[in-house]
Formats: sequence, C-alpha cells, structure tokens
Amino acid sequence: MTEPANDAKPIPFVDLAAQRRRLGAAIDAALARVTEHCQFILGPEVRALEAELARFCGARHAVSCASGTDALVLVLMAKGIGPGDAVICPSFTFCATAEVVALLGATPVFADVDEATFNIDPGSLERAIAKARRLGLKPKAVIPVDLFGLPADHDAIAAIAAAESIFILDDAAQSFGATYHGRPLGTFGLATSTSFFPAKPLGCYGDGGAIFTDDDDLAALLVSLRVHGQNAADKYDNVRVGLTGRLDTMQAAVLLEKLKIFPDEIGARNAAAERYGNALGNVAGVPRVPEGHTSVWAQYTIRVEPGRRAALVAALKDDGIPTAIYYPKPLHRQTAYERCPYAEGGLPVSDRLAEEVISLPMHAYLDEPTQDRIIDAVQRALSR
Ligand SMILES: Cc1ncc(COP(=O)(O)O)c(C=O)c1O
Repeated sequence: MTEPANDAKPIPFVDLAAQRRRLGAAIDAALARVTEHCQFILGPEVRALEAELARFCGARHAVSCASGTDALVLVLMAKGIGPGDAVICPSFTFCATAEVVALLGATPVFADVDEATFNIDPGSLERAIAKARRLGLKPKAVIPVDLFGLPADHDAIAAIAAAESIFILDDAAQSFGATYHGRPLGTFGLATSTSFFPAKPLGCYGDGGAIFTDDDDLAALLVSLRVHGQNAADKYDNVRVGLTGRLDTMQAAVLLEKLKIFPDEIGARNAAAERYGNALGNVAGVPRVPEGHTSVWAQYTIRVEPGRRAALVAALKDDGIPTAIYYPKPLHRQTAYERCPYAEGGLPVSDRLAEEVISLPMHAYLDEPTQDRIIDAVQRALSR
C-alpha cells in the first residue's frame, strides 16, 4: 500500500493479520497436525469440515471443492449444461458467475439487479428468460448472487424458477452465513455454491469453495466430478469427465478453526455495518438490509454521485484509507461477455451502480477508533 500523504497509519481493507492475532496459534497447530498425518488430499479434516459446514447451514450435504468458481462449474457440469442452454445471471457481479456458464459452451443471459439490494431483479429475470427463448436457447437455470453478503429475493426467484421449470444455483460466494427469513443460505434452490477466498467472510489461506445441496444424487455426482469423474466403487474407472476440484486438507484445517469463531465474527461485522449506516446515511447512499434478511457484509458498499466518486477515492487514499470499486464494469460491458444477450429493456441499474458504488474497509476486527477515522474522512470528503 502507498503511504498516506499525511502521517496517518494506513488502514487495511480486510485485516487478516488481526484475525491471525486471535486464531494464529490454533490454526498453526491444526496445520501442524496435517503435516504430521500427511493426508494432504481428502484427509480427515476435509470430511470433518464438510460435516460442520452442513450442520452450520442446515443443508443435507456439503461438498468441498477447490474454489468458488469450481463450486459453480461442478454443479453446472453435474446438470449437463452445455451448448444451446441459457443460464440467467445478474450482470452486476463478479465474472465467475457467468464465466462458468460460458466455459461449458452455454450462454449466459444477463438480468438487471434491484436498485435497493444490488441483487437480481425478479422482473428482469423473467425478461431474460423470455429473451433466451426468443433467441432459440433453452433456459435451464438461474444463478442468483447474494451480493456483498446480502441474500437475494429467494421467494420471488423460486416462484419464477418453478413456473419456468429451471433450476436455481445460488451463488453465495460472498454470503455464506447470511439468512433469509430465518433460513441460512445453503438451503435455497437445487444447490448453493460458496467461496473461501481469503478475503471472504469465511476465508481460508488460499483458494477453496463448497457446494451445498439436499439432493443425494447431485451430491454423489459432485463427489465424483471433483475427482476426475471417478467411480465411487472403483477409482480407476472414470465414469464421466471431471476435474481436479478438491479442497486441500490444509485449507480444511484452517477453515475448521475459523468456523468456530465465525458466528462471533458475523456479529462484529454487523455491528460495524450498523455504525457505518448510522454515521454515513446523511452524506451517501448506505445499504439497507430488507426485513427478514441478515447480511454477512462481505463488502460495505455506499453510493455517491458518479461525478464525486474519484475525488472521494483520492481523498480517502490521502488519509491512508483504502477503498475498492466492486464493480466498475457490469459483466454485459466486459470484453468477454459483451456479446451475450440480456433482458429486454437493458440493464440500467447495473450500469448506474457501476458508476456510483464504492466499498469501504469492512471486517470483523474494525475497531471503533479506526472506523471513526474512516467515517470522519468520508464525511469530510463528501461535505466539500
Ligand atoms: C459472486 C462470486 N462468485 C464466484 C466467485 C468465485 O470464487 P473463487 O474466487 O473462490 O473462485 C466469487 C469470488 O470473488 C464471487 O464474488
């Protein structure tokens, strides 16, 4: 990080070092146990983690895998998604949501997002399905994303998916631990994917991911696909084409320790989000959690007038405060996806958000004095 212009100490965007001060010894001991038993691939920690993750969210199965991207692609592979199929995705998301669709030769069809939640807009989802049909594609699935830690409108999405006979793969890469009307994510749709990328609310020490499902057959297929499509009874008979998509035992050992304090960390993130919301609501658009939802605040993202964002970024940088723009370009504007179809009427909200959003430091170890420095700097910059 570049030094701030004044003498203020730089603030981390996500403070993994603070978490290590709390948990480092336990994690190092867990890693040492793995180096002792040497079962680096699908060792006992992987099975233990899968049981704990399933228990945590109430899903029947948790199948761990190598990343949040693999989690998505494995489900689409299991469902035989391929050329001629359409999968509806929001445009305002990380590229992996649509990438996995294109990777399998299917067509991502983009839908717009809701202005208040940044999550897929059910009306636009219906228009995207209609668009896919008009183009002669077969709509097979929707991948809602629970963006920045906040659940999408799962009741509305489920009703549309049932009416249209498409399945739901919930992309909860940023939102494992959040709830929708009392139910944890991981239990909506056919399957849910998540990511354990280090900066995620529940992150490991490298890449990792998991899939949640209540479907026994799907879970068995995923277990086969993540190891080259191997036969459960005879590992030298590969019965389908798969990939090397396993979660390392080392990462499972890290996650088992982190999962123990995850509820406490979610509480701390919510306290920080509430402080931001109370302090910044008069100078910027602040996120509001809809009734019946809880968020894990993967990002704390505010909205400012488009013309003021660059100056805000620069002013905060001068004060040693990092920011991030998630996302400066919606997927339908990105080179790899600009030829993909999208819902009739365009995606105006995705376009607008890309101009207005800015994410502030957010993590479970954001102490009040540090947060006050951030709040004060944002208020000063936006009152100019
Ligand atoms: C919404 C979303 N989907 C998928 C992914 C992919 O996860 P991974 O980086 O673990 O492959 C991410 C990661 O940032 C994400 O934010």
